[in-house]
Amino acid sequence: MDTSTVICPGSFDPVTLGHIDIIKRASKMFDKVIVAVLVNMSKTPSFTTQERIAFLETTLADIPNVEIVGFSGLLADYAKERGAKAVVKGLRAMSDFEYEFQMALTNKKLNPELDTVFLTSDSQYMYLSSSMVKQIASLGGDISFFVPASIHAQVCERLKNNRN
Ligand code: PNS
Repeated sequence: MDTSTVICPGSFDPVTLGHIDIIKRASKMFDKVIVAVLVNMSKTPSFTTQERIAFLETTLADIPNVEIVGFSGLLADYAKERGAKAVVKGLRAMSDFEYEFQMALTNKKLNPELDTVFLTSDSQYMYLSSSMVKQIASLGGDISFFVPASIHAQVCERLKNNRN
């Protein structure tokens, strides 16, 4: 495969083992992976951008070709600014496809140099989502199967305050 820089974008609210699996696989396929914590205008995050970046930094500290950034503008513009040739995203189920396909085509229109590469989610993470993790933790359930061990305690501590 051609050597290059790619971007793994997302809300990462919080990062899950499913995200980590995709980022690690991308880091083996490409020279450099920029993990970009971006604004999704249809979601209200539970964690601040700084918290989400810190969780990613803790979890991915041992992977030298991964850089974590926060950016509040358009992904297509940021990719151009950083010279990234592709966006890498995980696809869980067919239900992801329509939304991801729409974003991929929109990003391509905004930045014709930018392609999107989809990696198939690992079967053990097919059902996993940040919103599910938040719901389980807020209701006192066990999320140790879903989030990296190194951030588990912090995520639980923050989310238990959402319980009422
Ligand atoms: O993890 P998510 O919430 O599914 O990720 C979506 C995200 C953050 C990648 C998307 O909303 C995004 O790219 N936001 C940045 C703003 C932007 O470029 N919007 C147009 C995308 S078509």
